[in-house]
Amino acid sequence: MTERAPVSRKLSAIAESATLKVDAKAKALQAAGRPVISYAAGEPDFATPSFIVDAAAEALRVPANFRYTPAAGLPVLREAIAAKTLRDSGLEVDPSRIVVTNGGKQAVYQAFQAVVNPGDEVLLPAPYWTTYPEAIRLADGTPVEVFAGADQEYKVTVAQLEAARNDRTTVLVFVSPSNPTGAVYTPEETRAIGEWALAHGIWVITDEIYQNLVYEGARAVSIVEAVPELAEQTILVNGVAKTYAMTGWRVGWMVGPKDAIKLAANLQSHLSSNVNNIAQRAALAALSGPQTEAEQMRLAFDRRRRLIVGELAKVPGVTVPNPLGAFYVYPDVQGLLGREWEGTTPTTTLELADLILDRAEVAVVPGEAFGPSGYLRLSYALGDDALLEGIQRLQRLFA
Ligand SMILES: Cc1ncc(COP(=O)(O)O)c(C=O)c1O
Repeated sequence: MTERAPVSRKLSAIAESATLKVDAKAKALQAAGRPVISYAAGEPDFATPSFIVDAAAEALRVPANFRYTPAAGLPVLREAIAAKTLRDSGLEVDPSRIVVTNGGKQAVYQAFQAVVNPGDEVLLPAPYWTTYPEAIRLADGTPVEVFAGADQEYKVTVAQLEAARNDRTTVLVFVSPSNPTGAVYTPEETRAIGEWALAHGIWVITDEIYQNLVYEGARAVSIVEAVPELAEQTILVNGVAKTYAMTGWRVGWMVGPKDAIKLAANLQSHLSSNVNNIAQRAALAALSGPQTEAEQMRLAFDRRRRLIVGELAKVPGVTVPNPLGAFYVYPDVQGLLGREWEGTTPTTTLELADLILDRAEVAVVPGEAFGPSGYLRLSYALGDDALLEGIQRLQRLFA
């Protein structure tokens, strides 16, 4: 018998999402009765606001929603997304330049597919969200990491980008607020980076999924608002997941120039067709309805953010830049490595995260999931009591 042909070499090189893996391990331990406190999840702990759920329930009674609809999204939702893009990203865009996707994640995937050619180099500021390098490789591009540490508040500079640029560089990934660091670029920093990309004809894929979750008066100015001429070489990625506590509904979108959006829509027409109509109707309600509940959730995140930053800073060996966006804190914990804690000496944050889970029953995501070792990501999208209790466990473990 001849040996079976191999499975895909390309996909064999793709790693499982590290954040989902840690989250799954924490949930399994919780299900087994262990009192694990998890800071691993990248999702709000709130219920989706009820007026959004009601809109979905109503949509279930409308037979048109039982059918295929345009692959690029319901026209009425694309109009609402155009209005939101103008409101929050300062970009006036025709709905024909929008594709509604199954979450921001599919928009990220399709954005790279639409603009990357084999051998292209994609500048990826690190620490980065774990999906980007894989999505770049799936588009036959090469991710080129540009690292910014805690000393520069995890924000790359034009000088660093310029040092990493060569004649194969075609795309820059720009994410503000950032997952995993919570960093928000100032309008001046954003403009400088946008002007640099414009000057070199580089595409920008800007992920704005956390744009409404900003604190202390910070504003995540869109790179196309900072540099309007950049609109013809920028793809904006966004979605309802984080702002409206709608991670499970799977609605995101991409906005961009006509040619690139056309390619993405063609791809989606073969890949997944239209996003679930009920979820699209829910997203429509979220974007066009009252924003009061979204604002209440933001205020709750802000309160927890201040609590976790203050408490983490009390752990010796931990440096905590103040995150101004998203719902993550990204401490530099290099001071905890190479020291013995209860008989073990972690030298990487992978080992440190294991130690923390074993000894303190606290789940955190190691920096290796987002770039270099030496950092931990903690999501503060969990209830105030658990939030405090988990950090107190860390304070005791590392006292
Ligand atoms: C930076 C960033 N972009 C996009 C997404 C995708 O979100 P979703 O696919 O749930 O809309 C996430 C989710 O964690 C994220 O953190």
